[in-house]
Amino acid sequence: MSANPDQGVRYDARHAAVYDRKIRQLIPGYETLHELSEFLLATLLPPDARILVAGSGSGEELLRYARRGPGWSLVGVEPSTDMNQLAAAKLEEAGITERVSLLQGKPGEVVLGEGYNAVTSLLVMHFLPDDGAKAAYLKALATALRPGGWLLLADLGGERGETGFERLFATWRAQQDASRDRPEQVALDFTHLGTNVHPLAEARRASLLAEAGLELVQEYWRALGLAAVLLRRCE
Ligand SMILES: C[S@@+](CC[C@H](N)C(=O)[O-])C[C@H]1O[C@@H](n2cnc3c(N)ncnc32)[C@H](O)[C@@H]1O
Repeated sequence: MSANPDQGVRYDARHAAVYDRKIRQLIPGYETLHELSEFLLATLLPPDARILVAGSGSGEELLRYARRGPGWSLVGVEPSTDMNQLAAAKLEEAGITERVSLLQGKPGEVVLGEGYNAVTSLLVMHFLPDDGAKAAYLKALATALRPGGWLLLADLGGERGETGFERLFATWRAQQDASRDRPEQVALDFTHLGTNVHPLAEARRASLLAEAGLELVQEYWRALGLAAVLLRRCE
């Protein structure tokens, strides 16, 4: 990923090409987050559900959800053309193009449709600065949901400089240093994480969620400062 003032980060061709391998190294528990999100949706949703995947990236979520719910229809929204192309190729190869469509752009800027049973946003919103961009993003996702619809939201959370946040961030760095063989790349990744990722303190997240008309139901996954929560659009 590289800095892009317009959206926080940009996933270009170079990043897209290595994304699937790289994200699994970088995010502790990436597979588990996705597996549990998939099963949580299966627990919550009817057989004919409509799901919006915000920041659908290289298609990991779209493929998983399409396989888990044979009657579900899915829309992915993703600003990176390179990531979208990767996702499209995987969907084509898996033969599941007719239940899945891909939108090019960002929530708030492209028409997402409405009345979704569920929206997911895994490892996306933390790239947006808290200067109105997170608020607009959450509002767009909430608007796409039907009243009572579910939002699965995973991000790095906490407050930079706060002891607990820094302890877990240092633990993550130590784990990456020990488990990867290119220290210069780990250093680069952590520079990006330090500048391009904008974690939210819990109280601030609560007020942005309330503003968007979303209520916190429960946390369902955590790895250090990264956590996934289940939210519901207020009726
Ligand atoms: C770390 S990847 C996560 C992709 C996917 N959700 C997954 O779990 O594998 C973050 C993705 O969010 C996309 N993204 C960045 N800004 C966005 C925005 N404002 N709205 C939607 N997606 C965005 C990036 O292009 C990238 O594909």
